Amino acid sequence: QGEQREQWGSRAGFLMAAIGSAVGLGNIWRFPAEAYKNGGGAFLLPYLVALLTAGLPLLILEYTVGRKFRKSPPAAFRQISRPAEVIGWWQVAICFVIAAYYAVIVAWAVRYAGFSFGKDWGKDPEKFFAGDFLHAGSEPGLPSSFVGNVFWPLLGVWIIVLAILALGVRRGIERANKIFIPALVFFFVILVLRAVTLDGAAEGLDALFSPDWSALTDGSVWVAAYGQIFFSLSIGFGIMVTYASYLGRRADLTGSALVAGFANSSFEILAGIGVFATLGFMAQANGAAVGDVVSEGVGLAFIAFPAVISQMPMGAAFGVIFFLSLAIAGLTSLVSIVQVVISAVQDRTGMRRVPAVWIVGGLVAVVSLALFPTDAGLSLLDAADHFINQYGIALAALVFLVVMAWVLRRLQPFQAHADETSAVRLGAWWRVCLGVITPVVLGWMMVDSLRKEFDENYGGYPTSFLAWAGWGVAVAAVLVGVLISLIPWRDAPVEGDAERE
Ligand code: PHE
Ligand code: NA
Repeated sequence: QGEQREQWGSRAGFLMAAIGSAVGLGNIWRFPAEAYKNGGGAFLLPYLVALLTAGLPLLILEYTVGRKFRKSPPAAFRQISRPAEVIGWWQVAICFVIAAYYAVIVAWAVRYAGFSFGKDWGKDPEKFFAGDFLHAGSEPGLPSSFVGNVFWPLLGVWIIVLAILALGVRRGIERANKIFIPALVFFFVILVLRAVTLDGAAEGLDALFSPDWSALTDGSVWVAAYGQIFFSLSIGFGIMVTYASYLGRRADLTGSALVAGFANSSFEILAGIGVFATLGFMAQANGAAVGDVVSEGVGLAFIAFPAVISQMPMGAAFGVIFFLSLAIAGLTSLVSIVQVVISAVQDRTGMRRVPAVWIVGGLVAVVSLALFPTDAGLSLLDAADHFINQYGIALAALVFLVVMAWVLRRLQPFQAHADETSAVRLGAWWRVCLGVITPVVLGWMMVDSLRKEFDENYGGYPTSFLAWAGWGVAVAAVLVGVLISLIPWRDAPVEGDAERE
């Protein structure tokens, strides 16, 4: 029992780590296209509303729970109420799944930074990506062969991540983010400056920012805005509870949440500018309309961008910087996801950090390495990502909020706890946002996406495949959560109970 909980070295260190977790692939490859599809410049309004009514309030709640109990989600929730521990393990299971495939995208980006020097990827980037690079099988299913192109970079990514985590919160996570985040900003600014000076950049920016105000009356645009905010701030599945559990007792909470939230959004806008300036160039070079070359996610980063980069003057440098940015943004998010799993197991078993990193982190790495650098990797990743986002993260956030706000009625005491040490005081609006607005929006999002799911199979995959690779994974996360919380605790003395009102 002797070991004290680790702590961040400084407020700046915590902020860097929190920003590093939030700024990820979602900023670079998701936000630009979401904004474009949902009203362009007009999207910024619902986006801002979502940030203020759901993003920041939930971020503040997670910081508060983490700092108050100074425990990972399962142990913290257990202290609030025993059965609530299930939600914590559910979140841990979700993090396990996400970590396993998120690392793979980082590995692809690392490998593509190398490809930037060649030319052959640009001729038929789609064929190159799925065929030459991934050796993706034509049918989705179980893995049947390894793909070395992905395996080795992925192994490297896991070694780096586990090494950072093994060094600990202050010497590992904090120090890595203090290096990576400024580096990321530096690379990204260069990238954006280069992009906006390309021919056609103005048309690209026009396409992104010209507002379609009629979009504001469309409910699906609002759903998209809230969806982007939840995803982008990485809220609802324990990451911020975990990071805040390493804060000192007097740390400011609401101020930190504001800084982290606005930093993340600034990075999204910056990415929107960079991506659309580049797409404008691509459209002009091919005599196409900007709207015809817009894409997002894997298609944007690994198919559209290679095509542009291969046509661009000094494309190699642009490519290296782009893919390194993607890799760094992903790596710092990945570190935060894996830390949730590690700290939960540490709190549960009393295991020390280093063995926990190698045993628990190693298990995530082994699953990741066994499933994804294979001929089945692409479709497995795609299905897992979609279902764990829709029926893991969003659903867990909904359950968490309903339980805290309505079943256990904890918002009031949490508000008092946050106010004790924070520069900005929370008002009743905070409880309204968390108790009413956010749950209603999340519930609506859930119904909306379920309806789409039964309308047509996600990604056009066969039902039999989605049943296990999609639904199966999402349900397994719940079951694992329930099972783990049923194991009786070797009752460790619970500190901090006195704080309960
Ligand atoms: N918030 C990250 C982003 O914007 C995404 C993320 C998802 C991070 C899941 C961690 C875990 O890309
Ligand atoms: Na983000």
